[in-house]
Amino acid sequence: MAEVTRIEAVGVSKAYRVGDRRVQALSRVSLRAAPAETLAVVGESGSGKSTLGRILLGVERPDEGEIRLDSAALSLPLPKAMRRRLQVVQQNPLSTLNPRRTVGQSVALPLRVHRLVAPRQTTARVRELLDLVGLPTDTQDRYPNALSGGQRQRAALARALAAEPDLIVLDEPTSALDVSVQARVLHLLIDLQARIGLTYIFITHDLSVVRNIAARVAVLYRGRVVETGPTEAVFRRPRHRYTTMLLSAIPVVSAAEEAVKPQWPQETRAQTAEAESAGCTFAPRCPFALDPCWRTPPPIESADGRHFAACYNPKDATS
Ligand SMILES: Nc1ncnc2c1ncn2[C@@H]1O[C@H](COP(=O)(O)OP(=O)(O)OP(=O)(O)O)[C@@H](O)[C@H]1O
Ligand code: SF4
Ligand SMILES: [Mg+2]
Repeated sequence: MAEVTRIEAVGVSKAYRVGDRRVQALSRVSLRAAPAETLAVVGESGSGKSTLGRILLGVERPDEGEIRLDSAALSLPLPKAMRRRLQVVQQNPLSTLNPRRTVGQSVALPLRVHRLVAPRQTTARVRELLDLVGLPTDTQDRYPNALSGGQRQRAALARALAAEPDLIVLDEPTSALDVSVQARVLHLLIDLQARIGLTYIFITHDLSVVRNIAARVAVLYRGRVVETGPTEAVFRRPRHRYTTMLLSAIPVVSAAEEAVKPQWPQETRAQTAEAESAGCTFAPRCPFALDPCWRTPPPIESADGRHFAACYNPKDATS
């Protein structure tokens, strides 16, 4: 089992300079994942999910705020032992699997770098790891290009697991896969977590995969956490209007699901006006915006200490 690990982002901000423009990728983001828990981070393209992932992994430095691992602030650059504990699986498995190396060589690399097994035990451990992710032993002699998308993602996962991490940031790990392959990889992730006790940060733009995998969810909109809480509560009673919009767009499979799905006014669904708001960044797209929404950023608040939202006119207030 992995050591139990709690990870927190505390007031994390990050801006990039693109030409003479400043892009605020993250603004005072605070969130946490409990030991052996999955926290989903959800938001549309450009909302700052991958930036947050890199900062949580300690590969990028925030402008403000800090990352805490079991209450201790990460100091950068991360020492090797700490890098081992924090691993990543990305949408494109080729970002960690070298196309010129066999899968076996890629999976063996962390074993050697971190001296996790004696050299003569490397092959046996590689086989064990491939087995753990459901790949046949002969995959070790194959090159990534000879594998299907799902097999490649399993191989990338085996490589991450080789390091014996406590936490894995999964950045859109199934977005490039067919739906049926996606379901099998998600199932594998859930199974591994139960067996090994890993903490996951599961980054996705697709709320529909969140319900099955994450105990808690944080919704990012333009670099800010607009809502966070237990997944069940956020799905059942979303409080920020942006979350409602995302949930209203999820395909449903039954009349019962349709009955509980939040509705979103049709005429505004395609609205993309990007007028600037000094208050809630979602105001230009929000049909429920009130005057204060345009003036002052809404504070993030909670009635129960578990489910938080930053909205002046939450769903419960009107519907
Ligand atoms: N290295 C960088 N240099 C300049 N701008 C960046 C850099 N990385 C991210 N950004 C900008 O920061 C913002 C957040 O980007 P990020 O990649 O974190 O979003 P994302 O939510 O992961 O999007 P996607 O769903 O498309 O992967 C975007 O406006 C992006 O253009
Ligand atoms: S704060 Fe106002 S603009 Fe923002 S989501 Fe809530 S109602 Fe809409
Ligand atoms: Mg991304």
